[in-house]
Amino acid sequence: AAAEKGGYATFMEKEINDQPHAVADTLLGRTDVEGRLTLDEMSISEEQLKNVDRITIVACGTAAYAGMTAKYAIEHWTRIPVEVALAHEFRYCDPIVNERTLVVSISQSGETMDTLMAVKHARELGAITVSVCNTHGSTIPRESDAVLYTHAGPEIAVASTKAFLAQITACYLLGLYLAQLRGGSFADDAAAVMKELAQVPAKIETLLGQMGRVREIAKFMADTRSVLFLGRHVGYPIAMEGALKLKELAYIHAEGFAAGELKHGPIALIEPGQPVFVIVPSPTSEHGLHGKVVSNIQEIRARGARTLVIAEEGDEAVEPFADEVIRVPATSPLLAPLLTVVPLQVFALWLSTAKGLDVDQPRNLAKSVTVE
Ligand code: G6P
Repeated sequence: AAAEKGGYATFMEKEINDQPHAVADTLLGRTDVEGRLTLDEMSISEEQLKNVDRITIVACGTAAYAGMTAKYAIEHWTRIPVEVALAHEFRYCDPIVNERTLVVSISQSGETMDTLMAVKHARELGAITVSVCNTHGSTIPRESDAVLYTHAGPEIAVASTKAFLAQITACYLLGLYLAQLRGGSFADDAAAVMKELAQVPAKIETLLGQMGRVREIAKFMADTRSVLFLGRHVGYPIAMEGALKLKELAYIHAEGFAAGELKHGPIALIEPGQPVFVIVPSPTSEHGLHGKVVSNIQEIRARGARTLVIAEEGDEAVEPFADEVIRVPATSPLLAPLLTVVPLQVFALWLSTAKGLDVDQPRNLAKSVTVE
């Protein structure tokens, strides 16, 4: 068993550290010599894909947060409207789906019943279905028109980590492929993103080497009863994923908010000592989002929050208002989730460990939920 864990104490720790490979392997073999995406295994004709006028992503849990992250990127790159539905809600909300809708399911196991039923329903309605899945030969890919495998390798720990990064990567590839099919400036932009995406695995590796302080912070927070997470744009689903990891692994009340929503309610929760993670957008983000989130940090700090700030390397603006700054390597804003989520996973892992809990098998949870 120790060998299976690659020298780590738990599968979760191993899987977090596997993430550079999970992303690199998911990118591997999906471009030709000129760097154009091929996605040969996607058995849907280019003609059919060119006709797609709407995308609906269906998934549960962590996979749904991967979908929410991908929505920002796919819409930006393709200008095709993307909706994300929790699979168990999708079926029962009279979904608007037809032959021009691409329904993308995301599932690590390929066996989640809620997601499977959503896919079946989508097919009945005539949609084109693509499965983003980590498990060869599982049910959801078999029930879909096409599959785009994530190559994260087997994920054993119940709480998902490396599959999440691989899911985001695969959904991004799908979005970039659709952009490439659109041609012109869409294709040029996609080619530029592909170059940057290729740099991401090495950046995750660097980041993993800098997680000592996060581990220490977690260790000192074993008695914490509530942690909040704030993010904006792609940082928003990452805030929710950070909160989910903490609920799953450390049984701590945690909630992720869109940073812009703070003043509309959640700021009332801030009292002295309340720990709040803030995922800061890159200073290169559009629409001045960086400055807006830095102001949020200032606002909650003024009310006594303990601010744990995840910010890009070299972003000095956060320093005056942060109790802790956790640095991530710079990348373009839409690729940042592949980095910013890592410290949140590491935090949940070590907080759970500090509480003496079983990180690989949290109470009440199953790796794949095969009942509705
Ligand atoms: C379960 C797991 C979660 C996972 C979700 C979706 O609830 O505990 O970690 O995110 O199922 O699983 P899937 O295999 O469909 O990605």
